[in-house]
Amino acid sequence: MSSFLHQRNLHNPFSKFPSSPRSSSSSKKPLSLSLVGPTALLALLSVVVVVGVFCPWLGNAVFSFSSAPPASKWSGYTLQQALSFVATNSSVIVCIVSQPYLPFLNNWLISIAMHRRHHMVLVIAEDYASLHRVNQLWPGHAVSSLPFLTPMPLISLALSFPKPAITKSLLKLARRPSHLLKILELGYSVMYNDVDMVWLADPFPYLEGNHDVYFTDDMNAIKPLNHSHDLPPPGKKGRPYICSCMIFLRPTNGAKLILKKWIEELQMQPWSKTMKSNDQPAFNWALMKNAKEADLYLLPQAAFPTGGLYFKNKTWVAETKGMHVIIHNNYIVGFEKKIKRFRDYGLWLVDDHAQESPLGRL
Ligand SMILES: *[C@@H]1O[C@H](CO)[C@@H](O)[C@H](O)[C@H]1NC(C)=O
Ligand SMILES: *[C@@H]1O[C@H](CO)[C@@H](O)[C@H](O)[C@H]1NC(C)=O
Ligand SMILES: *[C@@H]1O[C@H](CO)[C@@H](O)[C@H](O)[C@H]1NC(C)=O
Repeated sequence: MSSFLHQRNLHNPFSKFPSSPRSSSSSKKPLSLSLVGPTALLALLSVVVVVGVFCPWLGNAVFSFSSAPPASKWSGYTLQQALSFVATNSSVIVCIVSQPYLPFLNNWLISIAMHRRHHMVLVIAEDYASLHRVNQLWPGHAVSSLPFLTPMPLISLALSFPKPAITKSLLKLARRPSHLLKILELGYSVMYNDVDMVWLADPFPYLEGNHDVYFTDDMNAIKPLNHSHDLPPPGKKGRPYICSCMIFLRPTNGAKLILKKWIEELQMQPWSKTMKSNDQPAFNWALMKNAKEADLYLLPQAAFPTGGLYFKNKTWVAETKGMHVIIHNNYIVGFEKKIKRFRDYGLWLVDDHAQESPLGRL
């Protein structure tokens, strides 16, 4: 071991360059650039070209990474490093945020910290401002979404829609399944949450059994407490109304299949302006069409109600008191309205519990 270290000292990777004296203490070939043969060099070069062609364009198309990253150790922090840092039991909790959502991120994190799961959280940052802000306040818990944006599904998606406006929107929509797929491929289970959510209890005990994909219903129709855990039947639009806001996936073939089909469905949707910001229909088509290939599990409504139920039916909320686990502030549009509603319901924890946030006062 010590001799290995010693040799590494003598033979640094650049020892072949004329300015550094060649060591003669060993007959072993030093680690040097000569190890990289012409084929490998060519492959490397083509990777550089592909990345060079796609990255700036993808970056501009999809994210607000408009300026060059400031020099920081976090710019090179990889998804793999981040996952191994935050994972507990090979599981992580992820969200995807850009700068305007940081107050919601903070609120969501406070609620998770109250249930002692915050150490498992990885923030996928869509701009350098949030990447650096989160890692400055809470080192290691944010990773940039840009470096893992080059996987093949996204490139083929981009190439299949040559119109820039459509490509731009589609790439935005494909972020969620693409990021989640990458995490599964690295061997981790992942819980995805939108950040306009608040935990009232720990959701992990609700992930019963060994299913591939767990999700919640976005319908506000009231179900019996003992409702089935199967994928609900299709509604008026020919598909179910499962929320793409809270998903738990295990690193199984079934779960990976659903994510790949979700990306494919995004490409197959007839293009329209309203689809622009909504990846949920494609998720539902993917679930419905592949329900036999994957083991799906609908989480209990009383624990994971849609905002359309929780914030709109006081009778139901009283009847199911003590059963609620995650509250989603949906069925309402606009930051200010969401914050006001959270405040009205005592769920804007930023006001009184800021010191419990892993981020402190943002
Ligand atoms: C880790 O996983 C095992 C088996 O799935 C489970 O029993 C245990 O509670 C988990 N531990 C934590 C801290 O989640
Ligand atoms: C739920 O409970 C009701 C009444 O107790 C029963 O009739 C029904 O079959 C149950 N449904 C399921 C899906 O178990
Ligand atoms: C509200 O909840 C109650 C109790 O579950 C239910 O009987 C009622 O139909 C619900 N109201 C609406 C508008 O869904």
